[in-house]
Amino acid sequence: MALESILIDGPSRLQGDVHISGAKNAALPLMALTLLTDQPCTLRHIPKLHDIVSMSSILHSLGTQIHEDGSTLTLTTSAVDKTHAPYEDVRKMRASVLVLGPLLARTGKARVALPGGCAIGVRPIDLHLKAFESMGANIEIEDGDVVATLDQVKACTIVFDRVTVTGTINALMAASRGNAPVKLTNCATEPEVTQIAEILVAMGANIDGVGSNTMTIVGNKDIQGFDVTVIPDRIEAGTYMAAAAITQGDMILHHVCVEHLQSAIAKLQRMQVGVSILDDQTIRVVADQPLLPVDIQTAPYPGFPTDMQAQFVSLLTQVEGRSTVTETIFENRFMHVPELVRMGAQIRIKNSMLSISGRAPLKGAPVMATDLRASASLILAGLVAKGQTKVSRIYHLDRGYEKIEEKLAPLGAKIQRIKS
Ligand code: EPZ
Repeated sequence: MALESILIDGPSRLQGDVHISGAKNAALPLMALTLLTDQPCTLRHIPKLHDIVSMSSILHSLGTQIHEDGSTLTLTTSAVDKTHAPYEDVRKMRASVLVLGPLLARTGKARVALPGGCAIGVRPIDLHLKAFESMGANIEIEDGDVVATLDQVKACTIVFDRVTVTGTINALMAASRGNAPVKLTNCATEPEVTQIAEILVAMGANIDGVGSNTMTIVGNKDIQGFDVTVIPDRIEAGTYMAAAAITQGDMILHHVCVEHLQSAIAKLQRMQVGVSILDDQTIRVVADQPLLPVDIQTAPYPGFPTDMQAQFVSLLTQVEGRSTVTETIFENRFMHVPELVRMGAQIRIKNSMLSISGRAPLKGAPVMATDLRASASLILAGLVAKGQTKVSRIYHLDRGYEKIEEKLAPLGAKIQRIKS
């Protein structure tokens, strides 16, 4: 794929309707879940993203048949042909580690390359592996691969040292065909985790405490297929809400789940952005007042999501006064800051806290995307910057945002994708 860039001519004011896609971070584990059963599984409202393609190819290599019909995927793993996810697949997408749990539950063994770090941090999977060991798995590390076996799930209590989204999901999946109670405490309660737990129950597992930070799962050998509509992508929605705010726009977002957006809505309202709930799937964001500074600290759900941090940093550069942003989840998630400073933002970094002084007029510039959400923050900056912004390496963007320029252009953005 030729390297592509996105050109944006700013400033513009976004007005109109946008339709939010299904959640990437729910779709990926839901796809991995299909390894648990030989029954067909139907997944609806799947976003068209590179990460979905990556997960499809990994599952296909393991033995899953995949049928695509628009945004509906039907996945059937009548037999697992192999239990090895090699490094060249895993390094492209760390969410590939989500095949560990289902492979252990279905076949009792798995070999998956350690994902390695990424731009935003080391991102180990030690908590996943400790959870597997607690329930009886044997874990070895060989040539950079996790080599795991799990004969029989044993009753245990697992306390996660820190909240881990995919760690919680992997542990649930690993225990889902056993018959001993596995108690998980300090679980992640992100909506994506809750959807996985709900579907595991629909498949025949027994889970107590769905949606809470303490879940006890008793698996079921005779686990069935499922038919699910993926929840809306709360991070994509938050990104468009920030885009409406930064351009002093007026946007209606359709197909959202308002309940999942409470922390972002609260922050925007504190900033004096008008957010009105039209119904439980539709919100309107109107920014026609001067924006007020706020302090943001990322936290596990229902706190302010780390995946929305970069986008709100761009927004806060346009706010009169001093705002602060503290990143508590990842150790290196400020890669967007130097690029924003090149566009004229006034941002200082001290350890894990940013101090943002506004309002700093931004000027268009050539900038480089480094990770998925940092690239979204550069797009937002380009929408309000005076002149042309060229965001390169936008393959990062395509991993998590479906047709972003096709969604932004009808709203009034002067945006195009070019081959660079
Ligand atoms: C999920 O990643 C999301 N990805 C991330 O979204 C998101 O940023 C993150 O959760 C936090 O909300 C998917 O769901 C596919 P964690 P995950 O395990 O599960 C440390 C995006 O932009 N940790 O909750 O990998 C870890 O290093 C992506 O869509 C360990 O130390 O994140 C991090 O500092 C980016 N050991 C913190 O915990 C472990 O075994 C939270 O990580 C696991 C995690």
